[in-house]
Amino acid sequence: ALTSAGISVIGHSKSLEGLTYQQKKAIADYNPLCIPPLLYSPYTKRYRMPTLYIQDTQHEFYPGKKSYATGISTLQHHCSYLGPTIKVKRGDVIDFSIVNLRSEPVTNHWHGLHIPGRLDGGPHQMIHPGETWNISMPIHQEAATCWYHDHTCGKTAEQVYFGHAGMFIIEDKNSYSLGLPDIYGVNDIPIVLQDKLFDDTGQQIYDRKPSRVFVGDTYCINGVANSFISVMPGLVRFRILNASNARPYNLFFNDTTFYVIASDGGFLNKPVQVEKILVLPGERVEIIVDFSKFRGDMLDMKAITLPSDPFDPDYITVNIAKIVVNSYQLKETILANSLRASTIQRDLITNTLSDADVSRSFELMVDDDLSKMSINNKEFDMKFINEEVKIGMPEIWEIKSLKGGHNFHVHGCSFLVLELYGEEPDNILKGWKDTISLPKRVGEMNEGEYHTCKILVKFNHNTYRKEYMKNIESRSDINYHIPYMYHCHVLEHEDKGMMGQFIVY
Ligand code: C2O
Ligand code: CU
Repeated sequence: ALTSAGISVIGHSKSLEGLTYQQKKAIADYNPLCIPPLLYSPYTKRYRMPTLYIQDTQHEFYPGKKSYATGISTLQHHCSYLGPTIKVKRGDVIDFSIVNLRSEPVTNHWHGLHIPGRLDGGPHQMIHPGETWNISMPIHQEAATCWYHDHTCGKTAEQVYFGHAGMFIIEDKNSYSLGLPDIYGVNDIPIVLQDKLFDDTGQQIYDRKPSRVFVGDTYCINGVANSFISVMPGLVRFRILNASNARPYNLFFNDTTFYVIASDGGFLNKPVQVEKILVLPGERVEIIVDFSKFRGDMLDMKAITLPSDPFDPDYITVNIAKIVVNSYQLKETILANSLRASTIQRDLITNTLSDADVSRSFELMVDDDLSKMSINNKEFDMKFINEEVKIGMPEIWEIKSLKGGHNFHVHGCSFLVLELYGEEPDNILKGWKDTISLPKRVGEMNEGEYHTCKILVKFNHNTYRKEYMKNIESRSDINYHIPYMYHCHVLEHEDKGMMGQFIVY
């Protein structure tokens, strides 16, 4: 139902409608998936989003059990956990006001957005308790599923865990024209995946195990533990965001293959049929599942993932959600054979690479006792600029790590994966990315072997501070900049120092 301009709210009271008696009985122990409210920019090009209030909340991950949490609300809609899904169009200019009603400083980073450093929301852009961050954000990039989350220095893991995160969707002419499932919450379903630990009273707890990263034993989608998702018997699009601190998910359905249509930064050239899809923390994938032959049936969304016990070497298979296929019929949607207005021509791009005269190398490093984490032996330092990058120039970055289990993320751009382990990447990694995992697959971690990846990056926005925007062309002094970050998106690794910063000038 539309409540007021730019806000639509999809409740879950209808989640049992269209289900058979057997289905209702089978899901009695599951909780209906909650769909975050949608804030979208309507027809105008310039739009002021409703003010976002970050606050401490009480949230029920399990019905009837309240837990301390963080939520991001508007005056029209209360979110007891996470924030609303924000949906904008390419070409828009969006005004945001973000108010911190918590008692701790936060920042609000837009993960995956190609925006100038002064809008990026990294660790330098604190919103202190009671303060408001006002920005005006131009959207230049193609359709993609991105997200936003806290990025406070040393506190990101905890603050994201408790709920400071949300989905950010960009649409464009192409995405509207493809005929893909696009009814938010109905056949275009946001899946914000997180693992949690709860105490007996249902309180979420943040506890770093001996491995120094957080891994929970309960899987939540959009802040609902043990959920069921009621879907129509047709094509359904899931926008999957791994918002977990450290846990990878190799996702699959027990009874069907599916299609990957988009990675972090936009659509793939064409759909890729797979049985499983690996999603590391920080990554997004859009998938299409055809449920048309499953009317009245049930399926499981499962994942192969890390064991919760850090000393257990074996990967485990877990249930993420129960899928119930209802009996509604929707207008027909299609899965087009080619997904992009302009295809990503990797050969063309790589052929021009000889003029990419800059290459940089980043080694993700962990000390033996896990106490020190760094990149190129340098722990993150707010006052130190690690790299200076020229605007608009392609560069090749090589990322390596000796001990696996990292995922490298770069702010302010989407990149192309040129090589993974010295080989051409799989088809699902041939689109635009902003986060890439090393090793390339769950379970592939041989001791003593370097995991390597080569990416092609290019930045189209600078990192100047607003007050210095005018009249400077090439000044690279840090005082004139609000830098971008690159880091491991295992949030505890990031907080421990596996992060660097760079300016673009
Ligand atoms: Cu998802 Cu530097 O962040
Ligand atoms: Cu890491």
